[in-house]
Amino acid sequence: MTARDGPPPGRPRDTGWGLQGGRVAEAPSLVVLISGGGSNLGALLDACRSGALRARVVAVVSNRADAGGLRRAEAAGIPTVVSLLSTFRTVGGRPAFDAHLAELVAAFQPDLVICAGFLHLLSAAFLDRFGAGRVLNLHPALPGELPGLDAIRRAWDEAQAGRRTRTGVMVHEVVVEVDAGPVVRQAQVELVPGEAFDAFAARMHAAEHRVLVDAVRQRLQELSA
Ligand code: GRF
Repeated sequence: MTARDGPPPGRPRDTGWGLQGGRVAEAPSLVVLISGGGSNLGALLDACRSGALRARVVAVVSNRADAGGLRRAEAAGIPTVVSLLSTFRTVGGRPAFDAHLAELVAAFQPDLVICAGFLHLLSAAFLDRFGAGRVLNLHPALPGELPGLDAIRRAWDEAQAGRRTRTGVMVHEVVVEVDAGPVVRQAQVELVPGEAFDAFAARMHAAEHRVLVDAVRQRLQELSA
């Protein structure tokens, strides 16, 4: 599977390619890190394809061999890489894994690295390679709330216990603290009394897809300003 290595034949479209100073300029590049089904990756791919986001996903990297998002990427003709922390257990552990991950991501020369359902805490060994402002993470909670795994389920559980009426989603710059770092974009999601978990989770995922695309667009604009 190879990435597109030039503009499509004929007149450049305004999706993915643009004219700058009379020359065809490539759209900004994204490497997306995943661990799961990849619905958020799918939202990015759809937005790139439709022109809603002027960017191109140049590689998808997973830390799980069975991540469903790998199939989405392959279907879209995007290079995929699987890299497992377990491979490094006896040879350097997490710092060595993160340094290796940084090398393989850097090889694609991304403008932004997007953690979209990537269940691995990136350390300085990775972040120092790119700069925090170029590595973004999607987290299904508002800033300072519900860090860590299963934030959607925990928000719903708290609502059932009468302790929460709203949650949200955010995209933030990745720092070494878990699900913290300067916020690029966020959106609030209300908890509706009596709503089943699956319906609530579907609304949260829809919010994630919107906020992720908006955040990537915003950060690319900020970087080019
Ligand atoms: C998303 O809810 C993400 O925020 C969370 O894991 C889920 C991944 O979904 N951390 P997908 O793989 O993008 O479908």
